[in-house]
Amino acid sequence: MRSVLASAPAKVNLALRVGPPRLDGYHPLDTVFEALDIFDDVEATSVSDSSVTLSISGLGEDLPVDSRNLAVSAALLLQERFAVPTGVALRITKRIPVAGGMAGGSADAAATLVACNKLWNLDLSTDQLMELGAELGSDVPFCILGSLAHGTGRGEVLRPLKVGVMHSWVILTQRQGLSTPEVFREFDSLMDYVRIPETLVPDTQDLQEALEDSDLEAVGRLMVNDLEQPAFVVRPDIREVLRAAQEYGIRAIMSGSGPTVAVLADDFSTADAIAGKLSRQFPELTVLRANGPAAGAHVQVVR
Ligand code: C5P
Repeated sequence: MRSVLASAPAKVNLALRVGPPRLDGYHPLDTVFEALDIFDDVEATSVSDSSVTLSISGLGEDLPVDSRNLAVSAALLLQERFAVPTGVALRITKRIPVAGGMAGGSADAAATLVACNKLWNLDLSTDQLMELGAELGSDVPFCILGSLAHGTGRGEVLRPLKVGVMHSWVILTQRQGLSTPEVFREFDSLMDYVRIPETLVPDTQDLQEALEDSDLEAVGRLMVNDLEQPAFVVRPDIREVLRAAQEYGIRAIMSGSGPTVAVLADDFSTADAIAGKLSRQFPELTVLRANGPAAGAHVQVVR
């Protein structure tokens, strides 16, 4: 085998409840993840020496291509942990917005783990890949698992949820991304609390039940993102986009740490119509159509 092509999905958080920071600095989360059918592709090709290299096409051509890139870190992690003697040339085709709150970097790491697992015949299970993924970033395990899941811990402890109806989304992405650590830091300064036990994270039980009952109205009512207020402090324009998007569909929410805004629509054709209207209203934004829940990271082609 010379080359493996794998894909991994973007995510949206239908709910993102955040607690006060733990002693390690991470914030305990109670979240519901949904994978969307916007995929980044990673092609992993064997090379004769032990080098790990990366090239990127599509979005994100300005991203670093050394070990600051999570895809390179993912390949290095497998190479070192399993003493793989050969290297890999990685080629990413990027469609997930960069620094958008949709786990684009994590998806690249997830697709790289899946591709290199196959290329190097490591035979690691999905659970093993998810465990390794958690060492790279909090969202990597979900990008491997995909579909719909309840997340706790720092987002890496996952429990799959039963999938009911498909969801139609309109995604509004900004040209300028947002730094996740910066939004969490702003969350801390807005909260102004003393350290309290992580059990004080609000739970998402009602939303999980509404999803399992396929009750879209209730899902819309229960969607919530605790990082919206801190993100508005860093980027006030997000509030405006969110307010305008709120006029459409069942409910609009900021995705993850932002700045992407996601609108949940009643069905495919309503979502198409909303996408048309929002792209006319916000010519400076990129408006995407997406559906979920979508599959987690998977191998597409082996050559
Ligand atoms: O886990 P990951 O490397 O993706 O997280 C990036 C940054 O986001 C962390 O360094 C931390 O500042 C913040 N973060 C957090 N709590 C989480 C997840 C991320 O504070 N649950």
